[in-house]
Amino acid sequence: MVALQGAPLAALIVSLILQGGSTLSVQLPLFDQSPLSDSKSQPHSSSSDKPLVDSESFQATISGDKLLERAQTLFKIAERSHHEYNRPTRVIGSQGHLGTLEYVLESIKKLGSYYNIVQQPFPAYSGSVFESRLVLGDEVAHSASAMSLTPPTKNKEPVHGELVLVSNNGCSADDYPANVEGNIAFIRRGTCAFGDKSALAGRAGAVAAVIYNSETGTLHGTMGTPLADHVATFGLDLVEAKPVLEKLEKGKAVDAIAYIDGIVQTISTSNIVIQTAGGDPENCVMLGAHSDSVAEGPGINDDGSGTLSLIEVATQLTKFRVNNCVRFAWWSAEEEGLLGSDFYASTLPAAENPKIRLFMDYDMLASPNFAYQVYNATNTDNPLGSEELKNLYIDWYEAHDLNYTLIPFDGRSDYDGFIRAGIPAGGIATGAEGIKTPEEAEQFGGKAGDWYDPCYHQLCDHLGNVNATAWELNTKLVAHSVATYAVSFKGFPEREPATVQGLSQYAQSVKYRGDFLFW
Ligand SMILES: *[C@@H]1O[C@H](CO)[C@@H](O)[C@H](O)[C@H]1NC(C)=O
Ligand SMILES: *[C@@H]1O[C@H](CO)[C@@H](O)[C@H](O)[C@H]1NC(C)=O
Ligand SMILES: *[C@@H]1O[C@H](CO)[C@@H](O)[C@H](O)[C@H]1NC(C)=O
Ligand SMILES: [Zn+2]
Repeated sequence: MVALQGAPLAALIVSLILQGGSTLSVQLPLFDQSPLSDSKSQPHSSSSDKPLVDSESFQATISGDKLLERAQTLFKIAERSHHEYNRPTRVIGSQGHLGTLEYVLESIKKLGSYYNIVQQPFPAYSGSVFESRLVLGDEVAHSASAMSLTPPTKNKEPVHGELVLVSNNGCSADDYPANVEGNIAFIRRGTCAFGDKSALAGRAGAVAAVIYNSETGTLHGTMGTPLADHVATFGLDLVEAKPVLEKLEKGKAVDAIAYIDGIVQTISTSNIVIQTAGGDPENCVMLGAHSDSVAEGPGINDDGSGTLSLIEVATQLTKFRVNNCVRFAWWSAEEEGLLGSDFYASTLPAAENPKIRLFMDYDMLASPNFAYQVYNATNTDNPLGSEELKNLYIDWYEAHDLNYTLIPFDGRSDYDGFIRAGIPAGGIATGAEGIKTPEEAEQFGGKAGDWYDPCYHQLCDHLGNVNATAWELNTKLVAHSVATYAVSFKGFPEREPATVQGLSQYAQSVKYRGDFLFW
């Protein structure tokens, strides 16, 4: 069992990657660089002879062929996992993922002193459920799904008990009656995270917990950060929960058997963050993609596309000089629940946080059945500036006579930790397991009724799973976003302290943590 409560602030321990490839662990605040000597606009000496980046010339350096060439390299790297996983994958802990990190580092080191490189290690969790079953009364609950990162039942064997109805939404210790002890807690979804409910059930002595949905649809959730008090936890469909609930409410007993065989592992992995040596270090434009894939496949579109777009954009940027600093991040453990970006954003020292003027998320830029999607971030619901960023993307698509759609800004990718840290954010994507509508087929081509990415989180997310047209075009838009803010933040709102109300509003509206429901 992993108990990471009270883990030391590993954030402050970063490894500096030295030119020769050796690693040195030192304690120092992230990017505590001494500001450039005299004036803000003074360019870094090594790039002073370069032209100031301008969007059009920068976009012209982006070529789809170079991206596809990099994709071939990435696929070969994913194949290094074959002996361990029987398939190409870049899941955290695998050779494919270690190779990906190495490839990012090698590609950036080639660029010399243009960037400073920091590798930020952190503990990530990876869960596997091998077998699970929930029996309610005499019936196997077919909609029951073991939550991601759940601990197994005791001794990885079935546990028996009565279902005990928990009051309200089970977000307070008072909601758990005494007879939860030794039994199975039956808890309604809502108000707080699944992980909180499971921990409260565990503290009350439950041997397992069942969280039933409060709306229609299956409940595939994640426990979030593993806690010592967590017990084996299932999500359950409302339709299957209803008859059970009626019995319990009438005071009738319902026996249950819960069984989960699985493990939760702690894996040490790391984010890679680079920053231009030039440009005003007090005003940074930041962008990120995730370096890991799911275990099921090589993740060439998810998020090999964003990962490689960022490498290519970082490479081409060295031809220019910047006024504002540019910081690129390759997040690890996105697929385990946005762990890397969340770790980075939530542990930013107070003096460092305001230096990030905005964060731009680039996750899945080349879906084969793509739509041009822009996160629907607003200044009412998100930190001030998120809407200006959304409009930058919209303006670009419109200027190129391209259609776009707005998609929910609901916590499914790495912008989440930044919004929670009060930093304006947004991004673009081309679609995952959503279904393309007939209207969208008219807007973007492709096939209505199919997923945007029919190979999403599968083995077939390989070299054939990218649309080069969409990828090149979106990478030009990534370049445009970098160029725009690297030149100037004129007209872009100043950072303002996040309000408690604003943050809780976001936390209330966002139910996802990456791919899974979180509460
Ligand atoms: C975008 O967000 C705004 C504000 O929440 C909402 O009013 C609007 O309907 C959303 N647009 C789409 C297309 O989802
Ligand atoms: C944009 O969408 C309209 C349909 O809504 C379509 O007629 C038009 O061809 C699309 N534009 C492009 C560039 O695909
Ligand atoms: C990419 O998408 C465009 C527009 O739908 C299509 O014309 C092209 O054939 C696609 N290319 C690939 C490689 O799938
Ligand atoms: Zn992804």
